[in-house]
Amino acid sequence: MSFSDTERRRAEEIVARYPHSKSALLPLLHMAQDRDGYVTGEAMKDIAELLGLTPALVLGTCSFYTMFKRAPIGNLVVSVCTNVSCLVNGGPALVDSLRARYADDEDVHVEEVECVAACDLAPVMQVNYEFHGPVTSEAAVDVIEQYKSGALVARTISGSPVIAGSKAP
Ligand code: FES
Repeated sequence: MSFSDTERRRAEEIVARYPHSKSALLPLLHMAQDRDGYVTGEAMKDIAELLGLTPALVLGTCSFYTMFKRAPIGNLVVSVCTNVSCLVNGGPALVDSLRARYADDEDVHVEEVECVAACDLAPVMQVNYEFHGPVTSEAAVDVIEQYKSGALVARTISGSPVIAGSKAP
């Protein structure tokens, strides 16, 4: 979806904060993701036009950062670290068990990630970038189910507060 007039004005305010308009690229990608739950192709074109960049550069940036999603993924992004500290503490088995558990759940997206700088919590899981660890597979499912039920408050994947199960603002 393209930016509305209101969103375009908000985007221009964000751009005005920076000495170089290109610096607003990441905040604008977050803004677009907050609206739709992922960054649409139309939003990338709008951002490119607004910043005077090529669509390819915007796509390249969007695809480089794993926190930006380019397709609908549901309300909960579960990220499991499998780098060294988490690797030796059960990270790979954790991600495998969660992938199996939530394979058919459109609301939960399980992904494997590199070190998230919380090695003392290994194995670490993030739910919409909130840290949980160390967690067993059972504890991880319990946490995820609490987000799904609304007992725990999740944020959108860009950081805005929202109750799991409700639509992103
Ligand atoms: S190795 Fe998993 S958080 Fe650092």
